Amino acid sequence: MLYSDKVMDHFGNPHNVGVIEDADGVGEVGNPVCGDMMKITIKVSDDHLDDIKFQTLGCGAAIATSSVITDMARGLSLEDAVKITKAEIAQELDGLPPAKMHCSVLAADGLRAAVDDYLVKNGREPISGGPELVEDDEHGR
Ligand code: FES
Repeated sequence: MLYSDKVMDHFGNPHNVGVIEDADGVGEVGNPVCGDMMKITIKVSDDHLDDIKFQTLGCGAAIATSSVITDMARGLSLEDAVKITKAEIAQELDGLPPAKMHCSVLAADGLRAAVDDYLVKNGREPISGGPELVEDDEHGR
C-alpha cells in the first residue's frame, strides 16, 4: 500500500494536535469500520472557525486526514466547514489508497459533530446532516 508524500508529511508532523480547553464545540466520533477514535475541538467567532485542534487514536491515514482537515477548515464559515467531504480530504492529500478511504470519514464526521455541538449548545439547529455514510466497498483496512 503506497501513501502520497503529503500523507506521510501530515502523519509524521501532524498540524493542530491537541485539545482547546475552552472549546465552543466538541466532536467525538468513532469509525464504525475499525473502531478508531477522534476528538475535534473548535473555537467559533462570528460563525467562522477561529481555531481547531484534534486528537486521533487511529491509523496513519486517520491522523493524516485529521491533520489536513484542520488546515482546510480553519477560517471557514460553519456552513462551508460541514460541507468538506472525505473525497475532498483525500484529494487534498494527493489521494489515499482505496482501502483507506474509510479513514477520511472519521475526520469529516468529527468536524461535523463539533459544529453541530456548538450550534446545539447555543440553542440553534444542527446543520451537518449527520455523519457521512461509509459505503460497503470501502470496508477494507
Ligand atoms: Fe481506522 Fe484508518 S481510521 S484503520
